[in-house]
Amino acid sequence: MKTPTSIRELGWLDRTGAKVCSLAGYPRYRRECLRGVVPVRGEASTAQTQEELNQRMSGYPRNHVYRIVHGRIVPGFRLYERLRIVTRIYPDPIHSFLDIGCCRGFYVLDAALRLGCPRAVGIDVHEPFITTARDAAQYLRVPGAAFHYASLEDVSGTPQEFGGPFQVVMLIGTYHYLYWGSSLCSTAYHSHEEILRRLASICTHQLIISARFTMDRLPRDIQTTRPEGHGNETYTVEAFLQSAEKFFHTHHAGYLGVYPLFVMTKRT
Ligand SMILES: C[S@@+](CC[C@H](N)C(=O)[O-])C[C@H]1O[C@@H](n2cnc3c(N)ncnc32)[C@H](O)[C@@H]1O
Repeated sequence: MKTPTSIRELGWLDRTGAKVCSLAGYPRYRRECLRGVVPVRGEASTAQTQEELNQRMSGYPRNHVYRIVHGRIVPGFRLYERLRIVTRIYPDPIHSFLDIGCCRGFYVLDAALRLGCPRAVGIDVHEPFITTARDAAQYLRVPGAAFHYASLEDVSGTPQEFGGPFQVVMLIGTYHYLYWGSSLCSTAYHSHEEILRRLASICTHQLIISARFTMDRLPRDIQTTRPEGHGNETYTVEAFLQSAEKFFHTHHAGYLGVYPLFVMTKRT
């Protein structure tokens, strides 16, 4: 397989085409989200709860912004752009789903609500995100969605406690934190093989992953705190894919933003 490292490998026409498709599709998608909704005059407290929740749905990260409108979830444009690409990859039907670094829980809620996934779980190490996601799930009365303040270490240690193992495991924009650690979670594996081994142990079918796989794309705090020279040779997309081969068949499925998107099927 040719190893894609940069979105520059995509032609201008492909990138523009994807953007145009998203721009054209977004209004229709919003309409679909709200189809059949009859705004009813609810109690003032319900409207207030919805508004309070929506205030917590914006801010960092900007590509995970959504709103609750009359009991439905409506992604912001940047989140919709990603959702459009990612959900095309999901198996149909989707039985169980884990989002690692789930943020405010949009993908988990979407899997449970729109796609009817009976066991959709999100984990994150930033407690306010988990609280917001739980509050949204409770407000929307989503059956089958659960959120945990937990790390990969926790879930791979006792998967059953979190509803695992999972048919689909998703990891978007979070891999570099697992590899290098962060102020939110000091566990740093410093090993593609160790991370992938743990992911494979909680995944029965498909791993969806998009990440910053090159040193120059890492957040500044990681770049400045990593030991001198560490990772120059090991933190590369090639090294990642080589380790992945032990556990998964890998397919390059395009890009999320500028980062490569891989769909990985578990080896049997
Ligand atoms: C760039 S955001 C991506 C959010 C979401 N996956 C998305 O694509 O919209 C990274 C997320 O990973 C979470 N995170 C950071 N370190 C983590 C860790 N060790 N385990 C689980 N989540 C982590 C952050 O709290 C944040 O929600």
